[in-house]
Amino acid sequence: FDSAISTEDKLQKICQLLSDEVDYYNWVGFYFRNGDKNELKLGPYVGAATDHTIIPYGKGICGQVAESNQTFVVPDVYAQDNYLACSIETKAEIVIPIFKNGVNIGQIDIDSHTIDPFTEEDIKLLDYVCNRVSEII
Ligand code: SME
Repeated sequence: FDSAISTEDKLQKICQLLSDEVDYYNWVGFYFRNGDKNELKLGPYVGAATDHTIIPYGKGICGQVAESNQTFVVPDVYAQDNYLACSIETKAEIVIPIFKNGVNIGQIDIDSHTIDPFTEEDIKLLDYVCNRVSEII
């Protein structure tokens, strides 16, 4: 990436690229820890506008990943109790934590309109992306 491009713009481009290249990635966005509060704040994203611009730790799939530090694959969002709906079209979701110096600082969140679409290949790709993102923020 060109260093003249802001971090915000780089993250926006990553969202756009993932959403353009993978047809079942229907909403792609970043959440980051909001200062020193135990909540996530929405960062750059591509897809429908969401009401969930702030998510307390523990709430929804994203809030659970903020606490567990582990990738969360949800093949069927309707089977989850602790889930925050963004769009009625969303059927599945994957959230991958981003670590900086061993600290969970945020995540990539992807929603899919396809049920159970995510495989080990997605996890590999998104782990790679999260590691690269960690280097630029
Ligand atoms: N579904 C998420 C909320 C974020 S939206 O998908 C963009 C959750 O349950 O945490």
